[in-house]
Amino acid sequence: MQFKQVRRIEEKISVLGLGCWAFSGEGHWDNSTDDNSVAIIHAALDIGVNLLDVAPIYGRGRAETVVGRAIAGRRRDSFLIASKCGLLWDPDNPKHEWRCLKKDSILKEIDDSLRRLGTDYIDIYQLHWPDSSTPMAETLEAIAIIKKAGKIRHFGLTNYNTEQVKAIDPIVRVDSQQGLYNMLERNPRNYHADPLLYRTERETLPQCLELGQAFFPYSPLFQGLLSGTFAPSGNFSDNDVRRSNVKLNGERFKLYYDAALRLKEIAGRYGHPLNELAVNWLVSNPAVTSVIGSALTSEQLLANAKALEWSITPEMRKEIDAVIAPFEDL
Ligand SMILES: NC(=O)c1ccc[n+]([C@@H]2O[C@H](COP(=O)([O-])OP(=O)(O)OC[C@H]3O[C@@H](n4cnc5c(N)ncnc54)[C@H](OP(=O)(O)O)[C@@H]3O)[C@@H](O)[C@H]2O)c1
Repeated sequence: MQFKQVRRIEEKISVLGLGCWAFSGEGHWDNSTDDNSVAIIHAALDIGVNLLDVAPIYGRGRAETVVGRAIAGRRRDSFLIASKCGLLWDPDNPKHEWRCLKKDSILKEIDDSLRRLGTDYIDIYQLHWPDSSTPMAETLEAIAIIKKAGKIRHFGLTNYNTEQVKAIDPIVRVDSQQGLYNMLERNPRNYHADPLLYRTERETLPQCLELGQAFFPYSPLFQGLLSGTFAPSGNFSDNDVRRSNVKLNGERFKLYYDAALRLKEIAGRYGHPLNELAVNWLVSNPAVTSVIGSALTSEQLLANAKALEWSITPEMRKEIDAVIAPFEDL
């Protein structure tokens, strides 16, 4: 495993992290079973992955519970848990979710997360999405309280823009950021149906470098498209959350699919599969700290880790740049 260090976090962080959304369980994610999810987390920890990115909303508490099961008995200081707050759901209608960063809600959410994870602290606690109905001062008051109580070690933001980070940082130090970023989504304007108010490559990454914050790119394989295994259509079952991604369905999909095929051809010519190229492209960026891809099997995880056995050459990069340039602002 390779590691990177940023100024605001003491531990070196593995360049490959593990996104835990896919551990949401049956009913939330096809082919996700808890035993298999625990095995994938163990496989990740065993190859030196030391960052697990999870959230209460993933499987409505289920993914955090699975992470808790997987880490039981492991040395707590040998990995970092990054979890989140601010997305709530209706237990009677779990498809109904909404944003909430009110003080009382965060004070409850942190205790629920700690209980599910079976730990007494979260290493990196992130606001999942901005909540325009709650004053930021109220949210930060709650974060300051739980940080002082030792329930969280570091504070991070996901899906926030640089102006918001600048305003928040002097009140509670922002140690990490997370945003949508992969070869074909460099400054994306939307994630599924949600508009994004930040430009990842142009604004967020330089800010992270300047402030010494970690950056965790989410959907690093473009939700599977950059694994190189997608067909031209019919990739998702009715239940698959990716059905609501407008870039992976309908008319727009062809544009992205064709680009992925061209990248796959470049990777293949140099003797590598596309998933390794996509991971390497991210790892080679000094602003990217840890690539938090999801994996549905241990084989997928290990296949992505193989990327760390080689690096992109300047010659390859020129060819890649020609394919991805038109996607810079899509
Ligand atoms: N902060 C946020 O708002 C936010 C939003 C989204 C995600 N995230 C975080 O980012 C993590 C990753 O994002 P993501 O799940 O959206 O996308 P991703 O990591 O780009 O894609 C993951 C999917 O790609 C496929 N895959 C992975 N490795 C593969 C391999 N070697 N060969 C073939 N297929 C492979 C698997 O799907 P199939 O096998 O089913 O095709 C897997 O579920 C999440 O777990 C979560 O922690 C955060």
